[in-house]
Amino acid sequence: MEKNKKTQLRNDLVLRVLRGEQTDRVPVWMMRQAGRYLPDYVKLRNRYSFFERCRTPELAAEITIQPVEQIGVDAAIIFSDILVVPQAMGMEVQLVESKGPWLPEPIRQAADIERLLVPDVEEGLGYVFEALRLTKSYLGGAVPLIGFAGAPWTLLCYMVQGQGSKTFDGAKAFCYTQPHAAHRLLQLITDTTIAYLKGQARAGADLVQIFDSWGGLLSPEDFETWSLRYIRQIVAALKDMVPVIVFAKGAWHSLGEMAATGAQGLGIDWCIRPQMARQLAGDQVALQGNFDPAKLLSPIPVIVREVGAMLDAFSGHPHIANLGHGILPDVPVDHAKAFVEAVKNHKRSNERNPESI
Ligand code: CP3
Repeated sequence: MEKNKKTQLRNDLVLRVLRGEQTDRVPVWMMRQAGRYLPDYVKLRNRYSFFERCRTPELAAEITIQPVEQIGVDAAIIFSDILVVPQAMGMEVQLVESKGPWLPEPIRQAADIERLLVPDVEEGLGYVFEALRLTKSYLGGAVPLIGFAGAPWTLLCYMVQGQGSKTFDGAKAFCYTQPHAAHRLLQLITDTTIAYLKGQARAGADLVQIFDSWGGLLSPEDFETWSLRYIRQIVAALKDMVPVIVFAKGAWHSLGEMAATGAQGLGIDWCIRPQMARQLAGDQVALQGNFDPAKLLSPIPVIVREVGAMLDAFSGHPHIANLGHGILPDVPVDHAKAFVEAVKNHKRSNERNPESI
């Protein structure tokens, strides 16, 4: 295996928690930590378009290491986007200022799917692999590097709806009225994603996270049908190569099923108590989360107190501290730092928290 690569890391706390090992403290990183709220990123943002930043390995690597150097997180996550996959499959994806993702020619019927391709990932997404290799060298073993991809269901949401939505009812209507086409699309995305994440692991990603941001829009039965079935394939293909964290926001009802995929970590948002998540997920898997990102807008003493409460609620089992969703763009940098510091400084008792299961 790639043991050497891993032992060279100076801080491998995240990887140790994912292996179920005891650590002296809880590791911490923040979803969407690269970009958004950091002043150095905002400067780059004014000079290059979003996809230019993603496609230029030097820029992506520079943005990726900013939060490691400036905030002190225990892992880096590669600067990219989940929507580079639909792009590589042949769809046009734009990012419209203050509107978000825009896909001018969304999938509407089976014939549209025939236009898509399962790309050679080295050709279509090689720039992400190059960014990972470069970031690894910039990091010099300081912390693990996280690769990622969107879950097939979340990608279908954008590919069919054509833009962001609170309900993604257009995407749901597609699944409910054209189930064969929808499953064919999900399988094409899954095949691409497996090749893509394997490429990321080969390029140096120490672990990978699957973001199912819209998994929580589905009923438990539909989550199985339209999302988990495909996530399961991805986890099965990757989990013996690199550890996998599955974050299906809002889909807490299926934590048990997600744990059964063999994923080494599961992300949870702030709408479920850690104790209940642990009951559903079982004892083995690492849980990641679950600070309400909007709470980073609180005064710093409140952040510190609330972080303590969160850590106590998770204690006794493998935990990676994180937010329950991405960091908000208007979070002051010193508040993000206070969050990370509060996790690092928290004294935990060696006793198992009697509240935790
Ligand atoms: O953690 C990191 O910072 C790494 C980079 C990262 C980005 N997107 C960069 C980005 C990651 C992990 C993502 C994932 C992503 N992208 C998700 C899943 C996670 C989540 O938050 O739910 C989703 C749903 C997307 C799709 C997407 N990309 C949206 C909805 C938007 C616009 C609004 C927003 O979130 O800011 C993007 C653009 C985007 N992706 C930006 C960044 C830094 C903002 C654009 C900019 O800075 O110019």
